Amino acid sequence: MGRLDGRTAVVTGATSGIGRAAAVRLAAEGAHVFVTGRREPELRDLVAEIGEAGATGVVGDVAVPADLDRLYGAVRESGRRVDVLFANAGGGEIKRLEDVTERHVDFTFGANVKGLLFTVQKALPLLNDGASVILTGSTAGSGGNEGFGVYSASKAAVRSLSRTWANELKARNIRVNTLSPGPVDTPGLTGLAPDAERARALKDVLVAGVPLGRMGRTEEIADAVVFLASDQSSFVTGIELFVDGGQRQV
Ligand SMILES: NC(=O)c1ccc[n+]([C@@H]2O[C@H](COP(=O)([O-])OP(=O)(O)OC[C@H]3O[C@@H](n4cnc5c(N)ncnc54)[C@H](OP(=O)(O)O)[C@@H]3O)[C@@H](O)[C@H]2O)c1
Repeated sequence: MGRLDGRTAVVTGATSGIGRAAAVRLAAEGAHVFVTGRREPELRDLVAEIGEAGATGVVGDVAVPADLDRLYGAVRESGRRVDVLFANAGGGEIKRLEDVTERHVDFTFGANVKGLLFTVQKALPLLNDGASVILTGSTAGSGGNEGFGVYSASKAAVRSLSRTWANELKARNIRVNTLSPGPVDTPGLTGLAPDAERARALKDVLVAGVPLGRMGRTEEIADAVVFLASDQSSFVTGIELFVDGGQRQV
């Protein structure tokens, strides 16, 4: 018996990194997962790995509301409703204040804030009472690393939205929580640096701030997703769950 047998989950940003690992874990716990991302081949690989009985892929960009309509249209057509929504798609770029451009702000907030907001808003008619909504924040949202200003602000916005939504959705017993990873070794993190050498240097800097002395693994974040998705967290809403090796704790 899986902890999510018979449930339906939606995972955005499932083509890579944290979202991919979470989709695989949610499916292993028995959920049917609707997975999305912009890259079609990666999405196809994921659906093949989980198996078509357990996963449905819908290509799309969370920053484009019409793409979210297609995603939820596919859920509706399947006759399912949503028990777990993992709004995870996002990312960033390193830019100090003097280098910030309008494009950088629009790109970062477009996916991390606007995209996440409409991912949740457009799911509302499909969410079952008692559903679990999990938003990917970041330790960056409560930190001040140089070059991370716009990204950190976008993740602080995510944490803020989860407080309001936990209140707005409580009458339906829908729980809303922010899951904030510390540094996790993903293509997204590596891609912040222009080359392999600078990626290694960036990871060294980040790990230096982690009491456990290492990067997190995507599977460790996926375990926390399953906790927040399942009935094991039935009295948990409005929190920011840090899975960060102690980075923001000690
Ligand atoms: N890795 C870390 O250290 C870390 C720490 C804290 C928080 N986070 C957060 O964790 C989440 C996942 O990041 P990751 O590290 O797993 O990075 P990743 O490997 O780059 O994965 C990012 C995922 O988001 C998707 N995505 C990005 N922009 C999108 C958009 N506009 N529309 C649809 N999908 C989009 C990507 O898919 P496509 O490219 O196929 O669209 C990909 O599946 C992000 O929100 C990130 O900010 C990461």
